[in-house]
Amino acid sequence: MGDRTEQLSQLVASVQISSKFKNVHPGLIARIGAGELKKERRLKEAVKATKKKLHQVGSAYQLSRNDYQAWLSSLRESANDLDQFKAACLEIMDHNRSTQERLPIIVDFYSEIFAHLPPINSVLDVACGFNPLAIPWMDLEENASYTAVDIYKDMTNFIGEYLELMPVQGKAMLCDVITELPGERFDLAIMLKAMPCLEQLDKGAGGLILENLNAKHILVSYPIYSLGGKAKGMLENYQRQFYEMVDGKGWNIQKFEFLTELAFLVEK
Ligand SMILES: C[S@@+](CC[C@H](N)C(=O)[O-])C[C@H]1O[C@@H](n2cnc3c(N)ncnc32)[C@H](O)[C@@H]1O
Repeated sequence: MGDRTEQLSQLVASVQISSKFKNVHPGLIARIGAGELKKERRLKEAVKATKKKLHQVGSAYQLSRNDYQAWLSSLRESANDLDQFKAACLEIMDHNRSTQERLPIIVDFYSEIFAHLPPINSVLDVACGFNPLAIPWMDLEENASYTAVDIYKDMTNFIGEYLELMPVQGKAMLCDVITELPGERFDLAIMLKAMPCLEQLDKGAGGLILENLNAKHILVSYPIYSLGGKAKGMLENYQRQFYEMVDGKGWNIQKFEFLTELAFLVEK
């Protein structure tokens, strides 16, 4: 038992040495690491497997070194000019695979979704990545609250500072959404392209999160192209998975098909 605890702290420390993973939620590293050690792997193999999983669910989407300080400067410099500010947001979103894929559809995506929603005063952005940078395209009510959560400390710090520039009551937090979710009630929870990552970490996690989210509406989306760029029937597969997940819940579901993303709006 003592050995296992000691091995786990060695594993967490070994993973955190890597600059790629030093900002990842330590609880998530430990949770994945504990699962790998249980498979009776040697420490070295468990460290390797933990890093591989963290890469698949997080760093694979980061396209370059994130220059948060430079990005904050450009956002602050353009904060008084909406067109320039939006241009700065687009430029930053281009550095993350998920938001990058959304750029060609960003105007239609948010106008279409918000046209199907009542006035939104509070949002929870689950596994947010850089999606909060799309707030200027969202039709939120004045002074709405916006809570964003993800597993990277440096990313959530950056998003928190960005939110201070926005006309919202914003906060960004480090959170492994499989083990914890903010408890407040939200008008809208956004869960964009996160389902495949969460299901990869814990089979069945996606459906449980949908149930546990304290929100009237939930926007769930899926990628249509794999990280390698091939479609491979993803739309049909994810659509089937989603409908299986919500089967029998009695929720109202609307489907939206965009060029690069499949989305569902759930009303509980
Ligand atoms: C495919 S990206 C989607 C990002 C964003 N929602 C978007 O669509 O632009 C998946 C995101 O999930 C985050 N993530 C992975 N596992 C998580 C977990 N257990 N809890 C919270 N966030 C997680 C990753 O760090 C990454 O930002």
